[in-house]
Amino acid sequence: MQNREQWGSKLGFILAASGSAVGIGNIWKFPYIAGENGGAAFTLVYLLCILVVGLTIVIAEFAIGRSTQLSPVGAFEKLAPSSNWKWVGFLGVASAFVILSFYGVVGGWILKYIFVSISGGFEALSSEPDVAKNLFVSFISSTWSPILFQIVFMTLCVYVIVNGVKDGIENWSKIMMPIIIVLLFVLAIRGLTLPGGVEGLKFLFLPRFDELTASAIVLALGHSFFTLSLGMGTMITYGSYLNKKQNLLNSALWVIALDTAIALLAGTAIFTSVFAAGADPDGGPGLIFYILPSIFPQLAYGAIWGTLFFTLLFMAALTSAISILEVVTAYFIDQKGWSRNRATIQFGAIITIVGVFCSFSMGGGINIAEYFGSSFQHYLGETFFDVMDNLSSKYMLPFGGMMTAIFILLRWGVPSFLSEFGGENLDSERNRLVVTILCFIAAGVAGFILLNELIETITGNAIIG
Ligand code: PHE
Repeated sequence: MQNREQWGSKLGFILAASGSAVGIGNIWKFPYIAGENGGAAFTLVYLLCILVVGLTIVIAEFAIGRSTQLSPVGAFEKLAPSSNWKWVGFLGVASAFVILSFYGVVGGWILKYIFVSISGGFEALSSEPDVAKNLFVSFISSTWSPILFQIVFMTLCVYVIVNGVKDGIENWSKIMMPIIIVLLFVLAIRGLTLPGGVEGLKFLFLPRFDELTASAIVLALGHSFFTLSLGMGTMITYGSYLNKKQNLLNSALWVIALDTAIALLAGTAIFTSVFAAGADPDGGPGLIFYILPSIFPQLAYGAIWGTLFFTLLFMAALTSAISILEVVTAYFIDQKGWSRNRATIQFGAIITIVGVFCSFSMGGGINIAEYFGSSFQHYLGETFFDVMDNLSSKYMLPFGGMMTAIFILLRWGVPSFLSEFGGENLDSERNRLVVTILCFIAAGVAGFILLNELIETITGNAIIG
């Protein structure tokens, strides 16, 4: 235990943790869900969720990790010996499997699009979103090509993790995070200077409260877990490599500020270009894979902009994927005494194989979900890819988040949490009350998302939405 690896610096930790948070969720998902659900009206709700629920659980996870110096299973076991709490840790490891299997596939798609852009492949798609869509669909539904890119993506992920916490995760986050930020700035400024680009800003930042439905609010809540990598022990694991000197509140604020700023910058870069090109801002999930590729060639030096965009998206995906794999690796190191190499390579390979079935289910091979029957598919998703996505973001993460907040309230105790958080001087009557209320809200909100989702899947009608 003495020789547990530690982060090399405060900045390194913040960049690694925000690297985990900033991912496909920020650059692909946030812009289109904000665009579809009332622009700034949605963004305001989202910010509120992040500040109240997100911040509370980020800090709770950091504190659990740092106080135990263990990854989730060991951490819960240490703080609540011989109880069932360790299952919350196991659920985290399971969520890592589920998420990384499809995340790795999307990482592969992004990698492929870097190459398409460099080689001038977007030229033929200029102003032709339908052609771009066909190209995308035929790529992701082919058998081997997406798997090849997925394997490359997963191999890079394994490579970073094998190099360890400081020389792998921290080192690469310190390289990639600044590049992501700079590239996004350049793209956002490029978008703003395009004729008509400012309209995109209005779309994203002027509130349209009439479009903010109840289901959009639930969506904002759910997304705040995914975008901050909460509810599966990522932040517990990253927190376990921290020393006592780090200020947890300050670090958590940096992580959520960077995560939010990058989501907003990505939205700016994307919507200014979409409006400048007169394209459809309601492109939904296809926004980045077929609307943008049909827009880039219309810009001067479009191949360069396209390549920069997919490169930064690739880096964002990679810094998130490594944090997911690290949860699995750390479990086998901490609990089973395996070497880092063995844990990472074996489980990186197993997750890649599960991911292959996610990719196959897009049309290129068997769709395992079909073997579970149509009612299973009805409840959890048509394709195995969707099943893994829904299972994690709709159920596992909110459940894990809820249990973390309940853990602080009922088992670990607010006073112990406060003393880990900021030493004895923070443990006042007032602070206990504030933390109790925040954990209560966080648990309640997460529990509500879960219940809403369950009721909707079972009865077809949500409480809200
Ligand atoms: N936060 C990442 C994103 O926004 C996804 C993620 C989820 C990473 C859970 C780690 C754990 O893309």
